[in-house]
Amino acid sequence: MAKARRQMEEELKLVDIVIELRDARMPLASANPLLEELARNKKRLIILNKADMADEEENRKWLSFFERALPADSVNDRLTNRVVNEVKDILKDKLEKAKARGIRKKTLRAMVVGIPNVGKSTFINNIVKKKAAKAENRPGVTKNLQWIRINEDVELLDTPGVLWPKFDDQEKARILALLGSINDDILDKEALCAFGINYIKENYPGLLNKRYGIDESKEDLIKEIALNRKWLVSEGEPDIQKTCEMFLKDVRGGSLGRITFERYESAQ
Ligand code: G4P
Repeated sequence: MAKARRQMEEELKLVDIVIELRDARMPLASANPLLEELARNKKRLIILNKADMADEEENRKWLSFFERALPADSVNDRLTNRVVNEVKDILKDKLEKAKARGIRKKTLRAMVVGIPNVGKSTFINNIVKKKAAKAENRPGVTKNLQWIRINEDVELLDTPGVLWPKFDDQEKARILALLGSINDDILDKEALCAFGINYIKENYPGLLNKRYGIDESKEDLIKEIALNRKWLVSEGEPDIQKTCEMFLKDVRGGSLGRITFERYESAQ
């Protein structure tokens, strides 16, 4: 932890802006408290990644919640121009100052940070054109950091900053575990599954019925799913463990549809 902190501090000194990836399905739970502390005075662009898996209406609301944020599907969107333009706009004062000092071409430096599995590598590959030339090592920095040129205006620290989410808020930990961003071994799988099923039933009525063909008004929906899918330990006896595993896989893979697990209203 201390090492990660030091490294992040060093890296932050080298950049003009932090591009922070959050998971659009959980815009608050996927934040990192260390970054809040260390990058308080840094310019920041938030990317609500995996927006294609999140509820479109919630996406719109969450975008308005952050000062500067863009939605992204790092697998399918073309993000380079949108990201570069946003970065230039956020740093326009810096560019103007450089211009006033006679520097006509100021290259802005950025780093991508985010919790594991939020899509940092996919995002970087997306915004960096395939044959991006790696810039040379810069002498004088503590580590041999590599920079990749996105275009003539912006370059990116080659390795993304990996940050751990915070586990001590129970509600957030549950959502992180549900979406597979923290190890779910620390939580009771059945309880996690029940939480997910209940959340979807309450906020997205009809989705469970569509995926599993169950009557959502029934009492024990895990059991209903098991019986309907014939995930059984023996004749008529539901295999709850298997059902939970399959359900979690479906949720994480987006098989139930576009779902956001943190409501914008609850953050107000
Ligand atoms: P990381 O570097 O932050 O750890 O994440 P990485 O890019 O490896 O992405 C993790 C998974 O998320 C990958 O799935 C990737 O394809 C997927 N992903 C990243 N961005 C998006 C996005 O905007 N939309 C969608 N739908 N998926 C995205 P994977 O290859 O299947 O890996 P895994 O799930 O088997 O680990």
